[in-house]
Amino acid sequence: MQAFTRQGNVLHAEGVALTAIAAQFGTPTYVYSRAHIEASFRAYTQALEGCEHLVCFAVKANSNLAVLNVLAQLGAGFDIVSRGELERVLAAGGQASKIVFSGVGKSRDDMRRALEVGVHCFNVESDVELERLQEVAAELGVKAPVSLRVNPDVNPKTHPYISTGLKENKFGIDIEQAPAVYLRAASLPNIDVQGVDCHIGSQLTEIEPFLDALDRLLALIDTLAAQGVTIHHLDLGGGLGVQYRDEQPPLAGDYVQAVRERIAGRNLKLVFEPGRSIVANAGVLLTQVEFLKHTAHKDFAIIDAAMNDLIRPALYQAWMDVQPVTPRDGELRNYDLVGPICETGDFLAKNRDLCLAEGDLLAVCSAGAYGFVMSSNYNTRGRAAEVMVDGSNAHLVRERETLQSLFAGERLLPAE
Ligand code: LLP
Repeated sequence: MQAFTRQGNVLHAEGVALTAIAAQFGTPTYVYSRAHIEASFRAYTQALEGCEHLVCFAVKANSNLAVLNVLAQLGAGFDIVSRGELERVLAAGGQASKIVFSGVGKSRDDMRRALEVGVHCFNVESDVELERLQEVAAELGVKAPVSLRVNPDVNPKTHPYISTGLKENKFGIDIEQAPAVYLRAASLPNIDVQGVDCHIGSQLTEIEPFLDALDRLLALIDTLAAQGVTIHHLDLGGGLGVQYRDEQPPLAGDYVQAVRERIAGRNLKLVFEPGRSIVANAGVLLTQVEFLKHTAHKDFAIIDAAMNDLIRPALYQAWMDVQPVTPRDGELRNYDLVGPICETGDFLAKNRDLCLAEGDLLAVCSAGAYGFVMSSNYNTRGRAAEVMVDGSNAHLVRERETLQSLFAGERLLPAE
């Protein structure tokens, strides 16, 4: 669905004009569409009807409690990578029994808490993690449900910083080593082998790398079966791409359908961990032009959002669309959209033909995933507000950070 559309000349989120949101909540502000989040999630679950499944939203993509709550109400599971994300999911009304716990560096405390609340599964990323989990589960006198994250050595053909399924990446267990680690897991008294998982990368725009990884996992499942280890669920991770510019990623329904065809006849529960494909296009970052600085070499629009609010352009050279909220007629100029931070890398977009005036509102599109969650307080800038639109209502779902709160935890040295 299209959550952000023009009504008259003005860009709206569902039924609410972004001009009204800026007037009420200020800028910079992240604006999310509830309907878009719901529709994107349902694209997975509808395609999975008739097949045992669990769709676990990857909390790292957007961990706002209201976002998690909207998904929890649809019966979503959650993919977490930290104790903090675990507590967020529980605070948002998510069920522990639908949580998969990923991540290469789980601490003993992380494991203990996850065992206490009863997560669905630990996605174990190494042999040493498996041994630690056995110890912690034994201390608590419980059995830890486990899936091994295998690294299938598949090239996802995406940006190197967000590809994770190659041999040189830190993630997962080499698929060649996996059978030995599974046999060890099956022999441990406090480990309950449940599944197999992988996650090969993010922003994939083709189905083939997923299916290559799937084939390798299925071959592993057969090898394990021959050795007496039964796998009950198969988790393909997240990674489905979205359209930022002119990419044509597969639809979630088509992707799921292709996976279902490949596993037909097998008794496997399917798990997915989508993040970006649920929330990226459900959000924009609303910002205002502070100054137009026209120089002999370059025209800059200095906006009130910066790399601390949205780091994807600086970190991954990500191209994100920028739309004037209320376009004006006039001569276009070629602008770099830059923030107030003292870094040359502080830009949200480069070389955009726009007709702008001071005070204009802009929407940085597709910012619902890996936007707010990656923001920081660099340059002692408070983080943006977050607003969720539901039909014709806009709700503040995170207050703008106050400046006082930014240094509230800091202390001076004692006086001499
Ligand atoms: N599962 C695991 C184990 C993951 O590591 C990730 C993302 C996901 C699921 C969700 O993947 P998605 O469906 O969102 O592609 N900050 C980067 C993206 C990093 C992705 C890390 N892992 C960006 O802004 O592009």
